[in-house]
Amino acid sequence: MDPVLTYDQLLRYLEMEDREAQEVLFTEARKIREHSSGNKVYLRALVELSNICRKNCLYCGIRCANKKAERFSLDDDMVVNAAKIAHEMGFGSLVIQSGEVRGKAFTGRIGRLLRKIHQATGTQLGITLSLGEQRFETYKTWRESGAHRYLLRIETSSEDLYKKLHPDDGAHDFRNRLDALEDLKRAGYQTGSGVMIGLPYQTTHHLAKDLLFMKEMDLDMIGMGPYIPHPDTPLGQARVTIPTAGQRVGLSLRMIALLRILMKDVNIASTTALETLDKKGRLKGLLAGGNVFMPNLTPAAFARKYALYKDKPVKDDYVEGIRQFERELNREGMAIGYFEQGNPKHYQERMKNNLRD
Ligand code: 5AD
Ligand code: SF4
Repeated sequence: MDPVLTYDQLLRYLEMEDREAQEVLFTEARKIREHSSGNKVYLRALVELSNICRKNCLYCGIRCANKKAERFSLDDDMVVNAAKIAHEMGFGSLVIQSGEVRGKAFTGRIGRLLRKIHQATGTQLGITLSLGEQRFETYKTWRESGAHRYLLRIETSSEDLYKKLHPDDGAHDFRNRLDALEDLKRAGYQTGSGVMIGLPYQTTHHLAKDLLFMKEMDLDMIGMGPYIPHPDTPLGQARVTIPTAGQRVGLSLRMIALLRILMKDVNIASTTALETLDKKGRLKGLLAGGNVFMPNLTPAAFARKYALYKDKPVKDDYVEGIRQFERELNREGMAIGYFEQGNPKHYQERMKNNLRD
């Protein structure tokens, strides 16, 4: 398969419905993944720090205007404890995610938390932050306090579609989001982004452009998954048709496979949203070229309140959940990369090139 897929070819693959042809695509993507990271997939322990958010994205269950969302914020001890468990279980890294909060107090708190985690785990964990759009100085402070990676989804690479998914209130600006991704790279992070798939008003044309956008942005990590309506949101209540759950899963898997063909050495996550729509979704995402999965280590009572979308699966016993998933992976010839941070080769190459420039 030609590694330099054109827009028209991407479109054709995205619209492909033939099962056998899809299997050929997934096998190809998996081979490429195996070439760059072997049969290993990497674990990231996800900790959902807080569902307090200043933003009001029209699709998200924890948007600030959703009065039904019960707000919470974990205290530092809970996060450090989850980090210790992750470390003891052999996770190479930790992701701290929360709604978007800005200000000096929050910036200071995250800096201190990063230092506490490193202290408690012998600076062995790779730490990813996913805390929304912040000032460049804030990104830098957190980088210096020990964060290695940052995830900020662009959600869609189309400015027009972005406007349909976000309120026009000055706080949701497509250009600012693009600038934020550049800031993150400049601040020295392994930079991650991604899109939602099967959104209202979204076509395969948008998705083909998203794939080319992610390559053009030279990202190190990508997390993308199906859109899942939340009943207490404007988009969840809107009378617009979206692809069926099965179609959104299929589209998401093809997006992962095509991205793997376009970007051989990046980390691609197989997301919880995929698992929400298909019990085997996360495994399928890895079989289609993904190489990262993020078990949720947030205490279950809080994880339930971090409800971005409907029916998010929350496991009361995540240890057993991981063991079971590991058995499924092993049956498919894949293994978990224990005690490895699993840094994307792409980042190492990008840094080398930066030094040369
Ligand atoms: N369906 C799927 N993904 C969602 N997100 C937010 N709301 C939804 C939804 N309804 C995703 C966004 C965001 C990430 C944290 O969760 O892509 O960046
Ligand atoms: Fe806040 Fe993120 Fe949800 Fe938007 S998607 S409302 S920024 S948590």
